[in-house]
Amino acid sequence: MGTALGVALSRAGWPITAVASRDAGRRERFSRLVGGTRAFAEATAILDEVELIILAVPDDALAGLAAGLRLYSGQALIHTSGALGAEVLEPAMAAGTQIGSFHPLVAFADTERAVAALHGATIAVEGDDQLVALLAGMAEAIGATAVRLAPGSKSAYHAAAVLAAGGFDALLDAIAELGRVAGLDEASSLAIYGPLIEQTLGNARALGIRAALTGPITRGDVGTLRAHMATIAADAPAVVDLYRAAAEREIALAADRGALTPDAVLGLRAALALQS
Ligand SMILES: NC(=O)c1ccc[n+]([C@@H]2O[C@H](COP(=O)([O-])OP(=O)(O)OC[C@H]3O[C@@H](n4cnc5c(N)ncnc54)[C@H](OP(=O)(O)O)[C@@H]3O)[C@@H](O)[C@H]2O)c1
Repeated sequence: MGTALGVALSRAGWPITAVASRDAGRRERFSRLVGGTRAFAEATAILDEVELIILAVPDDALAGLAAGLRLYSGQALIHTSGALGAEVLEPAMAAGTQIGSFHPLVAFADTERAVAALHGATIAVEGDDQLVALLAGMAEAIGATAVRLAPGSKSAYHAAAVLAAGGFDALLDAIAELGRVAGLDEASSLAIYGPLIEQTLGNARALGIRAALTGPITRGDVGTLRAHMATIAADAPAVVDLYRAAAEREIALAADRGALTPDAVLGLRAALALQS
């Protein structure tokens, strides 16, 4: 993350003055990719060189590292974690300093792909008004869009991102498992159900999530739900919990939009409970 941001920001004309890494190879690589930087082995050394410090280290290392830093007045310290709020950096604060966070919603594998992915990415920013304005400008400079999060909401924002990426992949895995029961290999399942997924996403974006819900649950079709639960329990038992959890959410959505009578809701919930 640190190298990708360094490359992207310097290409956008932001002066990257210094870098710190404990590893000589990484320091050398950063300096080669981002010209004109001074490289240090200790994070504390860069405090004498820069105005804005980006701590791009694993989440678990942030608190310990921040505890070993002491900012000078006028400096700002930010991290790039999606899960942690800016407050984890508080130990480094002194009078006249600011803390914040800058989290690109991307998955970084190698540097060049990461730099490309930053273009068009959403970057969640936290901080006081002045720092947020600076971070929004920084996001814009690298072709990204900044979104300001409400204080204390970082964990929920990140949980939603994990559900959208890893959670969605888990859903695809369950879809493929049911596809296998029907004789489809993974590629066939993705080819068959992929367009349906894309249609659903398109409908949700155009009409809203509630209005985009289709399927037997919106029709109160208890018999179909009962048949699904029976076949999943028999042929793909590992999918039962996920199917039931999604169906419960669908029942709530359908009821909320007035598509189901209270009796239909009870009937659908009873069908779901059958294979517990
Ligand atoms: N990778 C992604 O796709 C991605 C996406 C969004 C946000 N992020 C966030 O960006 C941050 C960095 O992620 P990353 O994937 O770039 O991490 P990383 O490659 O695993 O680690 C980055 C650097 O952290 C330093 N580090 C590791 N353990 C440390 C410790 N105990 N104390 C001090 N420094 C330590 C290492 O520096 P040395 O060179 O000194 O060894 C390492 O080069 C995390 O907060 C992560 O949540 C990552």
